[in-house]
Amino acid sequence: MTLADASLVSDAFRVETRDNVAIITFDLPDKPVNTISRTVGDELIALLDHIERATLVHAAVLLSGKRDSFIAGADIEQFRVLHTARDAERLSRDGQMLMDRIERSRVPVIAAIHGACLGGGLEAALACAYRIATDHPSTALGLPEVQLGLIPGAGGTQRLPQRVGLRNALDMILTGKSVRAKKALSIGLVDELVHPAILLDVALDRARAFASGTSARPRRRRPHKAADLALERNPLGRRLVFRQAREQTLRKTRGHYPAPLAALTAVAAGYAEGRAKGLAVEAFSFGEMAMTDVSTQLVFLFFATSALKKDSGVDTPNVAPLPVHKLGVLGAGFMGAGIAAVAAMQHTAVRLKDAAPERVGKGLRAVYDVLRERLRKRRITRQQFADEFALVGGTTEYTGFGNADLVIEAVFEDLELKQRVLREAEAVIPSDAIYASNTSTIPITRIAEASRRPEQVLGMHFFSPVPKMPLLEVITTPRTSDVATVTAVAYGKTLGKHVIVVNDGPGFYTTRTLAAFMNEAGYLLDQGVSIEALDRALVEFGFPVGPVTLLDEVGIDVGAKVGHVLYEAFGERLTPAQSLERVAASGRLGRKGGKGFYRYDAHGKKGPVDETVYEILPTGAQRRVIPAEEMETRTVLAMVNEAARCLGEGVLRSARDGDLGAVFGIGFPPFRGGPFRYVDTLGVGAAARQLRELNAKFGARFEPAPLLARMAKTGERFYP
Ligand code: NAI
Repeated sequence: MTLADASLVSDAFRVETRDNVAIITFDLPDKPVNTISRTVGDELIALLDHIERATLVHAAVLLSGKRDSFIAGADIEQFRVLHTARDAERLSRDGQMLMDRIERSRVPVIAAIHGACLGGGLEAALACAYRIATDHPSTALGLPEVQLGLIPGAGGTQRLPQRVGLRNALDMILTGKSVRAKKALSIGLVDELVHPAILLDVALDRARAFASGTSARPRRRRPHKAADLALERNPLGRRLVFRQAREQTLRKTRGHYPAPLAALTAVAAGYAEGRAKGLAVEAFSFGEMAMTDVSTQLVFLFFATSALKKDSGVDTPNVAPLPVHKLGVLGAGFMGAGIAAVAAMQHTAVRLKDAAPERVGKGLRAVYDVLRERLRKRRITRQQFADEFALVGGTTEYTGFGNADLVIEAVFEDLELKQRVLREAEAVIPSDAIYASNTSTIPITRIAEASRRPEQVLGMHFFSPVPKMPLLEVITTPRTSDVATVTAVAYGKTLGKHVIVVNDGPGFYTTRTLAAFMNEAGYLLDQGVSIEALDRALVEFGFPVGPVTLLDEVGIDVGAKVGHVLYEAFGERLTPAQSLERVAASGRLGRKGGKGFYRYDAHGKKGPVDETVYEILPTGAQRRVIPAEEMETRTVLAMVNEAARCLGEGVLRSARDGDLGAVFGIGFPPFRGGPFRYVDTLGVGAAARQLRELNAKFGARFEPAPLLARMAKTGERFYP
């Protein structure tokens, strides 16, 4: 077989030769991105064997046939069929062999990287003789395995530290964070950066130089600071680096995520006993990690998120979204400005309206600050920053709303006001424009009562701070049209959000479940638990902050208002806790007012608990100890039970949406998979039993949701 026939042996790769260089183009048929599976690995090995036999080929270039993506990683589908740690270990061993094969290739392989180069993709690039990357925003290199509860399993724990030094490598491996092109160059992860237009030409050039021996090995940059090097070169220094990394990881993960520690062990083994031992430890640990419950949940979230990306938001097939080129935002406050900023980042022209000029000015300033932050972090250039900011205009009238495709309203949380601005806006916006409210509690149906076109009205509930929080909850009423829904969903995805669609109801899904959780925390305060102990218990459970800290963040006034709305809607089980009522009535606002359950300094930085707040609580200064486990069980089951009500009542379209909404919107611990996954882990029967016990003890608020009660009887689960 000649080299030209090589394409015949491979589905995943195309090969051509130019001037004695084989150009290997990785392009998995019918897939949006390239991923590495056993089959792909076998094909690549066969291809390399073949290329090596062709005496006229002296070097090879590996590049991707996909737009803006090199290799996205290992094919995660294969992880789902691993049943034992040994199966997983074997998979890792196969990956390691593939990378060894690339590294040992007689013809040097040059990696030409444009776009995402992640996981197995980066491990392959590391095994190549030389790496060229494009200096392009889509180029990002990383080992994100820990984000799936795994560790790099194809030599990444060994080759990355060798290339970029111990500290840089641990930074990447233990957090899963990727680095952009410039950083990759500065730490020595890639050998040079080029413009995308000349990637292949430069790669061919380097390949020819390698082949002819005119190029010495890559001009190695000094990848790391001298001080780091000195530290990393001696065993004592390394021990210090490892110890610090371990402590930092434990602080961050609170012991909930075993993978970063396993990765650390594999890296350390390589340093202490050489590559072969390091690889053995890496494969063994990969096997162990693949069997952890944490990994199962994180892999679930990965697939659920991918499925959500493909979900149009309606069950009717083929409803096309309308384009959104121009956005009108009503209310230039905290949320309005955040929404305007993320829209401008995606090149949408935005008109930001508020009632008074100084409010508009403040809103524009807030937009400026958000965009400016990205410039400061060098995510965008000065020109991009200027272009983005130029897209946002302010107004106190409805000027510029005449050609809006979508309007998002974020004025004060007040039904009458929201209905008034809706009427005003509808008088000027195009008849086919979609109108969304960012309310966090008011039923959209009520707001839409003021509309002449209720089929174009829905909710787009963003979370604060908008640029950071990944969830968007789209709320539809029975009258909302499919087109309006899919447009809101598609635009939300453009803004980079995970979008769940829920049916209208008080508090929708996220606010309602969070309120149940917070209120139970309030009941615990009523009983006299200490604020620190309560917050600590839920942080130990895995929430990013405890409920009392969260209430201070959200605003105690806002929390109380939400509490009342939901109490009116759902009655007794959501009777507001005395503690929350009293603190709200005292006028404490939380962080924004400088005073809440905790103290805050002039810059809003959180200090210790404000002991004087206890004087306001029902039990006064008298404190009482309730075991952390009881605090966790009560608050979490209150949330989970409310989530089950939402699913049973049809507010949620699926358990999947409920899990993603809770993880991305309200901080439910990702390693527990979400409220429904959590119930499955407990067992539906056990959860229902616990709820009944709590109900007997604390009155009607723990009555199991009808759906849970029914599933407990039939023995069903939320997920197969
Ligand atoms: P905010 O108080 O920062 O901003 C509200 C803005 O609306 C103010 O600038 C006000 O001047 C403006 N406004 C009042 N009347 C107006 C009118 N007739 N025309 C134009 N603008 C007018 O409030 P925030 O926090 O931004 O909240 C806005 C909405 O977003 C509320 O419905 C709130 O429930 C919701 N929300 C808030 C979240 C948060 O964490 N702050 C999270 C999710 C939703």
